[in-house]
Amino acid sequence: MKTQYYTATSLDGFIADENNSLDWLMQFGEPGGSYPPFIAEVGAIAMGSTTYEWLLEHEINKDSEKTKPWPYEQPVWVFSSRSLSPVANADIRFCNGDVAPIHREMTMAANGKNIWIVGGGELAGQFFDKGLLDEFIITITPVTLGAGAPLFPRRIATPPLNLVAVQQYGKHYVEVRYEVAKQPI
Ligand SMILES: NC(=O)c1ccc[n+]([C@@H]2O[C@H](COP(=O)([O-])OP(=O)(O)OC[C@H]3O[C@@H](n4cnc5c(N)ncnc54)[C@H](OP(=O)(O)O)[C@@H]3O)[C@@H](O)[C@H]2O)c1
Repeated sequence: MKTQYYTATSLDGFIADENNSLDWLMQFGEPGGSYPPFIAEVGAIAMGSTTYEWLLEHEINKDSEKTKPWPYEQPVWVFSSRSLSPVANADIRFCNGDVAPIHREMTMAANGKNIWIVGGGELAGQFFDKGLLDEFIITITPVTLGAGAPLFPRRIATPPLNLVAVQQYGKHYVEVRYEVAKQPI
């Protein structure tokens, strides 16, 4: 059972542009590659409020006539200090503050499966700060954005991450998997 930060980044290290747009990513179409086997092993999900509100605006409520169903079967913890709108028929648990007790709840709910930290980078960093992040699974896309939401606003230098796997997907994507080192090199 691992806690994994699985996301896509621009080549220069941003997961959304300055306007929180993902158009640069969406131009490549629906996620394929490793996503189906990855999500099949996930038992609990965490995301920050910007990511949640992006999903509401661009997926769930995109068509003003008809809402789309919530895309996750797993329970989702949404971090926010504000009161956010829920989604019908979705297991969404709003939470606030220290990630450590929430991680314990998520571990219980995941029941042996993995925990997915969707993002953003600062939230993934909070799990890292508490020693709760095991793995980065990062899809690098062939665009640069110059500015935006950072992939991971932390310094990890010594010990560095351990490279686990590299995989090319089609003409555009490279996925890299790094483990967080538990021992100094
Ligand atoms: N490229 C990709 O694959 C990918 C993946 C995921 C996300 N994204 C995009 O990347 C952007 C990420 O946005 P972001 O950097 O702003 O990150 P975010 O984690 O989505 O949202 C940050 C917000 O979450 C809340 N938050 C974070 N930690 C908290 C804590 N411990 N307790 C309570 N609230 C907490 C705070 O908002 P409040 O003001 O609500 O308290 C904070 O401002 C979004 O546009 C998203 O759509 C892209």
